[in-house]
Amino acid sequence: MTLPLQDQVAFITGAGSGLGAETARRLAKDGAIIAVNDLNETAAQSIANEVGGIALPFDVVDSHAFDLAVDSCVSQLGRIDILVNNAGIAPSDAATKTDRMMANSMRRMEGKINELEPLDFMLDLSDEAWDRMIKIHLYGSFYGCRAALRHMQPQRSGRIINMSSVLGLYPSSGAPHYSVAKAAIITLTKTVAEEVAGLGINVNAICPGYIDTPLLTPFSEVMKAGITMRIGKGHMGEASDIAEMVRFLVGPESRYCTGDVFAVSGGYR
Ligand SMILES: NC(=O)c1ccc[n+]([C@@H]2O[C@H](COP(=O)([O-])OP(=O)(O)OC[C@H]3O[C@@H](n4cnc5c(N)ncnc54)[C@H](O)[C@@H]3O)[C@@H](O)[C@H]2O)c1
Repeated sequence: MTLPLQDQVAFITGAGSGLGAETARRLAKDGAIIAVNDLNETAAQSIANEVGGIALPFDVVDSHAFDLAVDSCVSQLGRIDILVNNAGIAPSDAATKTDRMMANSMRRMEGKINELEPLDFMLDLSDEAWDRMIKIHLYGSFYGCRAALRHMQPQRSGRIINMSSVLGLYPSSGAPHYSVAKAAIITLTKTVAEEVAGLGINVNAICPGYIDTPLLTPFSEVMKAGITMRIGKGHMGEASDIAEMVRFLVGPESRYCTGDVFAVSGGYR
């Protein structure tokens, strides 16, 4: 029996954990051969062993390393059909300010606007934290698209998925750098998609809502409860919810989807 993704080569960044690891498992289940990237070499190797793929550990902010890894994927596995730009880090600043945010919410409910305390999300954001956040998410996605297109354009086929976030759609003052990076990824997705739509290459963005992965470890229980109140379904999602969307967007069923943005949020607003 031929599987839907039989022998297709998928390169997934940040696949040593969470959404990337689950996506690696899901695509491998349907026949894809997986190149597993992660900053964490041990995690990348572990998932590569699990799915029978290869590990290509590097930092996605290093454009030269990204080019070399994609070239290495093509020389080892013969091609690259799918790229999932997924590597990311958490916006943890809000986690340390939960108490102040809650106190302000109470004051708002009581109409005590003049008593709101400054939260200082902007004032406390360092140059280094801003740069690292933008670089991993936005630069990493740009480097990945460019490296993959060098191979996908000549073969006139390919699928690229960029992992944005619901915070790219509904920005959060508690995570300005993360929200900006994720919104920019949506625009990057649309511009690249328009350029290569006639070349057999589809480029789409996924905006996960809050999904239970190690990314959320810095979040306090109170903060998670506050987030959950904004989720229509009343609970966070599972990594498989996102992996299934990736599977749809790299498979034959989504041939008419490109430059499109897919939220999987459980009704988060
Ligand atoms: N979990 C959520 O609720 C959620 C919601 C919206 C968007 N996202 C996005 O989904 C993606 C995956 O998140 P996750 O929840 O699986 O997180 P995770 O922490 O479980 O996994 C992220 C992986 O990326 C790797 N990574 C981090 N920086 C890297 C770098 N510079 N180069 C290579 N690898 C790097 C980490 O080592 C880790 O293994 C991220 O882009 C995240 O912003 C997650």
